Amino acid sequence: MISEDLILKIKEENDIVDVISEVMTLKRAGRNYVGLCPFHGEKTPSFTVSKDKQIFKCFGCGEAGNVITFIMKYKRFNFPEAVKFLGERVNIDVEEDKAYELKNSKKNKLYKINVEAAKYFFNNLTKNSVARNYFFKRGMDKKTLVRFGLGYAVDDWNSLMNYLKNRGYTALDMLEAGLIIKGKNNSYYDRFRNRVMFPVFDYKGRVIGFGGRVLNDSKPKYLNSPETELFKKGTNLYGLNFVIDHFKTDTIVIVEGYMDLISLNQSGIVNVVASLGTALTTQQAKLLKRYVKKIIISYDADTAGQLATLRGMEILKKEGFDVRVLMIPEDKDPDEFVRNHGSKAFESLIEKALPLTEYRIFMESKGINLSDKEMIIKYTRKIIPILLELDPVERELYIKRVAEISKINEQVLYDMVARYAHRGNDYSSNSNKLDDVNMKLYMEPASVKAERVLLNTMLKHNSSIEYIRDKIKVEDMDMNIHKFIYKTILENKSLPKDELKRFIEVKCTDIESSKEFVKILDTEVIDENNCSVAINDCVAQIKKSRLEESKKAIMEKIKKYEAEGKFDETIKLASELVDIQKKISKEIPMEGGNR
Ligand code: UTP
Ligand code: MN
Repeated sequence: MISEDLILKIKEENDIVDVISEVMTLKRAGRNYVGLCPFHGEKTPSFTVSKDKQIFKCFGCGEAGNVITFIMKYKRFNFPEAVKFLGERVNIDVEEDKAYELKNSKKNKLYKINVEAAKYFFNNLTKNSVARNYFFKRGMDKKTLVRFGLGYAVDDWNSLMNYLKNRGYTALDMLEAGLIIKGKNNSYYDRFRNRVMFPVFDYKGRVIGFGGRVLNDSKPKYLNSPETELFKKGTNLYGLNFVIDHFKTDTIVIVEGYMDLISLNQSGIVNVVASLGTALTTQQAKLLKRYVKKIIISYDADTAGQLATLRGMEILKKEGFDVRVLMIPEDKDPDEFVRNHGSKAFESLIEKALPLTEYRIFMESKGINLSDKEMIIKYTRKIIPILLELDPVERELYIKRVAEISKINEQVLYDMVARYAHRGNDYSSNSNKLDDVNMKLYMEPASVKAERVLLNTMLKHNSSIEYIRDKIKVEDMDMNIHKFIYKTILENKSLPKDELKRFIEVKCTDIESSKEFVKILDTEVIDENNCSVAINDCVAQIKKSRLEESKKAIMEKIKKYEAEGKFDETIKLASELVDIQKKISKEIPMEGGNR
């Protein structure tokens, strides 16, 4: 006998399209694959394989089946032979040892003891109003308690143990089911005490373990069954049995917790499974693959939840799912959201779930400060690798998005992606590979552009030189090369413009400076008539940028003094900060630059 689990596993690992393609030619036709039927002679293909359903069917001769029966028919194998053949194909050993029977009967016993325990916990709930009220307070109705077999473990060291002993189970049985714990001197005690209980079902609805939650805020919030013969981390998904029951969906939503799943279910959203706080595994992804192609991840909005989301998405993407991320505004988790806003609102969040790339870019872009150059540099370090992974069409789309978000020039982003694709190095992890001089040219904060506009305008229109000179000092310019050019213009304003340009050009001897000078000459020029408004804008932009920098420096000092306990100093600095903030609000330019 080969265990049912093993057969399922082998079936899961052997994709029917792959297996059949190895022995005959299949062509894609819409959602299915077609070919000439190997079981009867035909000239036009009526043999159809469905990847979604993992079955084949011939409309000519009526032959049909799954991957195992295909191999049985095709290779004329009996069932165990076909299973072994497919097992070997994916490196799974199929041993039909006698030990198996033993193991199987042991497993059956564990299923029974778990059901017995679940019944016991459920019964306790009917007798304990505190526990019942806990669930009611969290918005669950009676039907939900029954549907999910929820229960209560009383506040006692041996109550479950005594109950099960009376039903003929030994301490060893209970230990193997993870229901009791071995203490000192060969004594035993109940694992779950004074907790509301959630039985964990496998995809067939069998109880394989438990989660128990405290009724207050004590820790650990949830206590789960340990690994047992039945309860194995990373192989199961809570709630999948209910999804299969009402199967009529092409999408499954994955949430983190028991409560999230139960609340969604009660509100009528049933295509949900819960990963129960652990990272998704490939095995779980394969399990889902049997049912759907699209997965919506809806994890908690906290950072741990977000990290888990990213890891989970990678795994699901590798398995070929269309993966999207549902983002819950303000509320902490799906449970709270659906209770506060209802199922319609949650469904519209499902509709609006973001595709993987969009989500990653969104996450990286959260809270970026466009006037903080260092932050923008860090931001691009994270974004470029994401853009690099995309195909050209997607890349174009997302470069536009990133340019919008960050105000980094689109062409600059293309250049950066190309450069780092070319280098083929690990861009994200090694910051030393990026020289920040170079980066500065790429970042182009609005003030740098403003400086270029002013310089180029001075190089074109004599009349602007004095006007600008009165508005902005050499030191106010950010880039050294700008300072130098500005100074040179002021000192040589009587030179004819062409001569002045040549003069500056020969002074720009290094690559970066000459490149920058070309950029300046390439920048737009402010129109000679009515130029004061535009010049004032540029000046405001530059001054604002300088003020933001000193603001940042002061804030860093404050942090440092705070850490050192020098509070008098921090108060002084705080008033300086207020002054700067006032000046910044005065310097808001008419257009651009402001976030
Ligand atoms: P959450 O804390 O998000 O779960 O953890 P939740 O269901 O929303 O919890 P409450 O009842 O509303 O406060 C997600 C999941 O992580 C596991 C549980 O499976 C939980 O449902 N977890 C969490 C643990 O196993 N142990 C813990 O201490 C906490
Ligand atoms: Mn919760």
